[in-house]
Amino acid sequence: KRLTQEVEAYAIENKEQLETFRNTYVSRKGQIAALFDEMKTVAPEQRKQVGQELNQLKNLAQQKMDGAQETLEQNATPDALSGLDFTLPPVPNALGTRHPLARVREQIIRIFERIGFNVSEGPEMEDDWHNFSALNFPENHPARDMQDTFFLSKNPDMLLRTHTSSVQVRVMEHQKPPIRTLSPGRVFRNEAISARAHCVFHQVEGLFVDRGVSFKDLKDTLYYFVKELFGPDTQIRFRPSFFPFTEPSAEIDITCLICKGEGCNICKQSGWVEIGGSGMVDPQVLENCGIDSKEFSGFAFGMGIERITMLKYQIKDLRLFTENDARFLRQFEAI
Ligand code: PHE
Repeated sequence: KRLTQEVEAYAIENKEQLETFRNTYVSRKGQIAALFDEMKTVAPEQRKQVGQELNQLKNLAQQKMDGAQETLEQNATPDALSGLDFTLPPVPNALGTRHPLARVREQIIRIFERIGFNVSEGPEMEDDWHNFSALNFPENHPARDMQDTFFLSKNPDMLLRTHTSSVQVRVMEHQKPPIRTLSPGRVFRNEAISARAHCVFHQVEGLFVDRGVSFKDLKDTLYYFVKELFGPDTQIRFRPSFFPFTEPSAEIDITCLICKGEGCNICKQSGWVEIGGSGMVDPQVLENCGIDSKEFSGFAFGMGIERITMLKYQIKDLRLFTENDARFLRQFEAI
């Protein structure tokens, strides 16, 4: 009887109290189990009644413990989750988009792939031979200044490549003609940053070397490319120019697609914009790379990917490409 009252009165409000309750009364070494052990000392005629009372006590204690355990579990709130409202809608995850320059590089590669060009790459940190000497830039020639080179302070023979023409040299050194390759990549020039220029930008180089390659092949290839990328109405013109590694050389202009030829600050009011340089690979350059210039000829071109992207998507300031403003980048999601 005393134990029944005790069990009834016992307050279980936390885990520790539950555990004490279990140990004191319910466990195999607890007080109720001890009473069962004493059953053998009870007179046979009373055993039945005492047994019933003990069983009731045992059930009472067990029920009390189960009930308390359930309440404790229901009220339990892990500290880390308290104060959170799980009915609030989640903050949406913003998916990133591919950078416009990466998309345009991809489009350019697709167009040239269709006429048999593969893709080749070279290092951004170059030696003098691949960036200049093999390409006919004479030692101390002002053409080397023309490209505002970043030299590496530890080794004056090493520099950050000023153009992707260095990759032409690497390909020709390792591969016999026919060669039809496209080399996209980052290039570096010590230029003041403005709406039209940056010290880090991207070029894509094209190189075609085989028997009997002529200037007509160069023109046909670039006509095809410009019409594919910018649309069939785009005009293209070649302007005589000079590069140490091509002869003859020509600059490639297309109609300014920002002002549709009307004149704007990107085309300096001329209606035309330059997208790159081109020319027939100088025979000496072929020889420098171990290709017989009496047997083979080739053309090459190099174009600025920023400039092409600006024209294609009417972007008026080149600095937008590196500012990473999500409002700018998100506009290319659907392209
Ligand atoms: N490498 C030249 C430049 O960066 C472009 C060019 C490439 C010209 C191939 C002719 C042939 O200005």
